[in-house]
Amino acid sequence: MTPKQTLLRGRTLNFSAEPTGPEDTAAYQYCEDGAVLIEGGLIVASGDYTAVAAQAVQPQVIDHRPHLLMAGFIDTHIHFPQVQVIASWGAQLLDWLNSYTFPEETRFASPDHSAAMAGKFYDLLLGHGTTTAVAYCSVHKASADAFFAEAARRDMRMIGGKVMMDRNAPDGLMDTPQSGYDDTQALIRDWHGKGRASYAITPRFAITSTPAQMEMAQALVAENPDCYVQTHLSENHAEIDFTRELYPQARDYLDVYETYGLLGPKALLGHAIHLTPREIDALAETGAHPVFCPTSNLFLGSGLFDGAGLRARGIGNAIATDVGAGTSYSMLQTLNEGYKVLQLQGQSLHPLRAFHWITRGNAVTLGLEGKIGTLDAGTEADVVVLDARATPAMDLRMQRAGSLSDELFILQMLGDDRAVAQVYVAGRASKGAPVLEAAI
Ligand code: GUN
Ligand code: ZN
Repeated sequence: MTPKQTLLRGRTLNFSAEPTGPEDTAAYQYCEDGAVLIEGGLIVASGDYTAVAAQAVQPQVIDHRPHLLMAGFIDTHIHFPQVQVIASWGAQLLDWLNSYTFPEETRFASPDHSAAMAGKFYDLLLGHGTTTAVAYCSVHKASADAFFAEAARRDMRMIGGKVMMDRNAPDGLMDTPQSGYDDTQALIRDWHGKGRASYAITPRFAITSTPAQMEMAQALVAENPDCYVQTHLSENHAEIDFTRELYPQARDYLDVYETYGLLGPKALLGHAIHLTPREIDALAETGAHPVFCPTSNLFLGSGLFDGAGLRARGIGNAIATDVGAGTSYSMLQTLNEGYKVLQLQGQSLHPLRAFHWITRGNAVTLGLEGKIGTLDAGTEADVVVLDARATPAMDLRMQRAGSLSDELFILQMLGDDRAVAQVYVAGRASKGAPVLEAAI
């Protein structure tokens, strides 16, 4: 008989708030000998091994010692149809879109291509420890169907949407205001709230949507208030200038989205680098979330995200890879580059705050902290198992590590998919690597 429960044993780290630093022990629980008990895809208990094991009923025990268990990583901005765009040379945003990205995305008109790429996409996410992502699909409905179908097959909590774009793009990559509306409504009907899926209404950015399409996006948001909204904001100076030409009556870039009723706590705004004081006020007032995409911002030469400035205004920032302008699927490498972007502005990112950000912090910006991002009882059992000695360089450095913060910083600066020993999605192991099993 297969056991109903699984007991993962290892060191555990679980956040209950954003830590200010290592002394802020009320914000996190770290157990040297810890465990996570799982049943039916949910976490039953986590924390001290002895206490958790005492609650278990004939579980399958998987011993991950000496590795570190924490909630699976959450990537809040990634482009599914850019899996074969990542690492394309030599351009800044608008040229990069026109030269590499738009031509590649036209291939997702094909349901077969979309399905094949969806399998690769989720293999990559999970291999890097990411268990939830918020993704842009291509303009084609088929790409979003493939994205959601493959996530459902793997029981992954995923958020996404087809991009709406009806101008300034090649012929094979545009919808119309009406077809964009109709396809989005159909996708919401077919996928939103089904299993672990949520829909994000996705006008790509102001440059690729006419005012008529923005009106349709506004209608979609009004008619589906529990869907997310995602778009791009103020990533690059040429993009901002073009937006201002296309929407001359707007007070600034953000005002385009504000005018069409797209802003609120469910809105995720990729990049948000070059903001005016009025735009920052509007972000604070509406509760919309800027999304910091450090590897992308450095790769495209877009600019430096002012994390501390926005935080000081009480604005909840998410963090993300933005593959394929982002250069790594790894949220660890995202933290590595994020640390440097903040350093360049004299801002600091403590490793405890960093690991909170890619787990519970991103969950909070999505309003999902009751479901994902922690190891709390009752939440979904998406768990990553990290090995801070995964490479010779990490192992050597770990020999001089004296604290949990040291270990986290080594993972953040030197870690990538090699540091991900195992990933559980709704309680099921998703990497083929053999695990040591032991009886309690
Ligand atoms: N702005 C509009 N579309 C995109 C995209 O695909 N990637 C990035 N980085 N910025 C965008
Ligand atoms: Zn993007």
